Amino acid sequence: MNQVDYLRISLIDRCNFSCQYCMPEGAELDYILQQDLLTNAELLTLIKEVFIPVGFTRFRLTGGEPLLRRGVVELVEQIASFPQTKDLSMTTNGFLLAPLAQNLYDAGLKRINISLDSLDADIFNQVIGNKGLTSRLKWESVWNGIQTAHDVGFDPLKLNVVVIPGVNDHEILDLAALTIDKQWHVRFIEFMPIGNGDLFQGKGWISSAELRQQIRTKWGLTESQVCGAGPADIFRIPGAKGTLGFISQMSDCFCDRCNRIRLAADGWLRPCLLNETGQIDLKTALRSGVSTTKLQGQIQELLTVKSEINFKQRESGTTTGNYSRTMSQIGG
Ligand code: GTP
Ligand code: 5AD
Ligand code: SF4
Repeated sequence: MNQVDYLRISLIDRCNFSCQYCMPEGAELDYILQQDLLTNAELLTLIKEVFIPVGFTRFRLTGGEPLLRRGVVELVEQIASFPQTKDLSMTTNGFLLAPLAQNLYDAGLKRINISLDSLDADIFNQVIGNKGLTSRLKWESVWNGIQTAHDVGFDPLKLNVVVIPGVNDHEILDLAALTIDKQWHVRFIEFMPIGNGDLFQGKGWISSAELRQQIRTKWGLTESQVCGAGPADIFRIPGAKGTLGFISQMSDCFCDRCNRIRLAADGWLRPCLLNETGQIDLKTALRSGVSTTKLQGQIQELLTVKSEINFKQRESGTTTGNYSRTMSQIGG
């Protein structure tokens, strides 16, 4: 099994969008109360005194929307300042990014992944649940965030497209074409049935192989690589500056090469995106005085069984029985 040294940290479960694949329509989400969020001090203690000693060196900040977290730039600065931090990244919807990009970069964030599900403002609005507003404002803010991140120097800069049948699948070639002139990494993600079973049952998912075939027919496609080990299989349109990634958790199980675990904003540590067996409540432990040494031991134990906690039930299109959170609550 892979070395597990990558921690995805959800800073907040709230989001300023409600993407249909992430926060299903009509879902009544119970947001984490302020007093139940890990404080910045608790989070830094956990990273420094628990995760780093256990061997974690790579950290990704997620949400909900991580830029909604108060003090996010200071948090970045502190996590980046640990000498063991080898990689610090963020996944954001990009809406608040433009004015913060330079500060985040200066604070030590060097790579960023931004969602961009459509190049069409109306479809984008439909995906993010921006009902009633016909303005291009949200799409433009995100696009501006992407451009600013590029200008500031984020590299690699990755754009995430969740492919939703009947909604944005006709835009695959246009989105792929972004990589021809720009050194961006566009990733197509197979839609996962996570906290959104109804949408999944109705629409299903489109396989990466099918998307690659469309792209190959138009331009050709070669295998490639990009920095930052992750779940994506990387390809390139011949001669393009950027790359195309395919995240294929539905058609091609990558559980056996999984290198990551996830810390929720309320301190629950989960071993797998789609399976919460064995999760640990680190916040309660910390607040009730459990020593960081003991917590290190608990995490080591979880890591020894992690390979058996996975999402191999994908055939049935369902997550495990005890599954309870939406994607927005876990941070992807
Ligand atoms: P890097 O490779 O480090 O750049 O990041 P990433 O691609 O893992 O991160 P990002 O937050 O951009 O996630 C992109 C997509 O991959 C999202 O849909 C995630 O839910 C999915 N993903 C990331 N990690 C895992 C994982 O461990 N298991 C599964 N099934 N999906 C994952
Ligand atoms: N299936 C696949 N990817 C998803 N994301 C959110 N919900 C889903 C889902 N149901 C992705 C978004 C975001 C990342 C954190 O997770 O693209 O970029
Ligand atoms: Fe918010 Fe990201 Fe979920 Fe969209 S995918 S609702 S931007 S957390």
